[in-house]
Amino acid sequence: MKKAFVAGMPVEHSKSPALHGFWLAEYGIQGSYEAIAVQPNELKTLISTMSDRGFVGGNITIPHKESAFDMISASDDAAKAIGAVNTVWIEEGGVRASNTDAYGFSANLDSEALAWRDGQCALVLGAGGASRAVVYALLEAGFDNIRIANRTTERAKMLASHFGQKCSHHGLDELGSLCSNVDVFVNTTSLGMTGESSFELVVISKLPQSCIVTDIVYTPLRTPLLEAASAVGLKTVDGLGMLLHQAVPGFEKWFGVRPEVTPQLRQHILELL
Ligand code: ATR
Repeated sequence: MKKAFVAGMPVEHSKSPALHGFWLAEYGIQGSYEAIAVQPNELKTLISTMSDRGFVGGNITIPHKESAFDMISASDDAAKAIGAVNTVWIEEGGVRASNTDAYGFSANLDSEALAWRDGQCALVLGAGGASRAVVYALLEAGFDNIRIANRTTERAKMLASHFGQKCSHHGLDELGSLCSNVDVFVNTTSLGMTGESSFELVVISKLPQSCIVTDIVYTPLRTPLLEAASAVGLKTVDGLGMLLHQAVPGFEKWFGVRPEVTPQLRQHILELL
């Protein structure tokens, strides 16, 4: 029986066991996927002993994504560019790592708003770890004008300079003036979870009518940002699909079947939110 895990702290709220459990049952695979609470000082041991403990791999989640990247030398291009890993597996006796968040972001838009790939200009709100994955995905998709706006301008500056001249950095006070020609607007901050903020909503009225608006927050599923965008007729894509799609490459590595993101899976996870 193949065993996989998600390691984080805290980890009990992770939706990954339900997600992978759904696919294991769906495809009739003899396997397991368990959540393991791992302290920062335990991560190295988990990674180095995972094969001995019978694991074929797993997911690494908050707060370990960056430190796991530092511990694993064999990581793919996405993980290197993002500086964090979320998926590990055993290959030829060694530990390999990837970051599938950027893949999840792109695959979600591919499935819900394929025209996003025709875009060139994006406005990204936030400059944390999630933003790094989104900016990488946008660059990979061919975007050449990526405006990163963040409360702490210095963080936006660091992120923009990491990814080079196709990216620019801005403070939130500039948001209103950054909306022209934007093809895709992405919220990568936790703002939509509380509903407390309103400044990102101001942006909505200024975006072009053809702009696709997406939020990586999925609790609530319809964030205030998405509601406001829908109200003025903009195409919106919620963040749940990114969670579902980022899980696909890991499941395939561990269990040998490329799983499908179906309405049934989405409904199953929705009921747990
Ligand atoms: P993640 O890995 O999920 O991206 P993170 O690295 O903590 O998490 O980043 C959170 C992002 O949300 C940051 O861009 C943060 O802005 P700062 O860099 O200024 O901290 C943004 N954020 C969180 N709360 C915010 C708030 N109340 N107003 C504006 N931005 C906020």
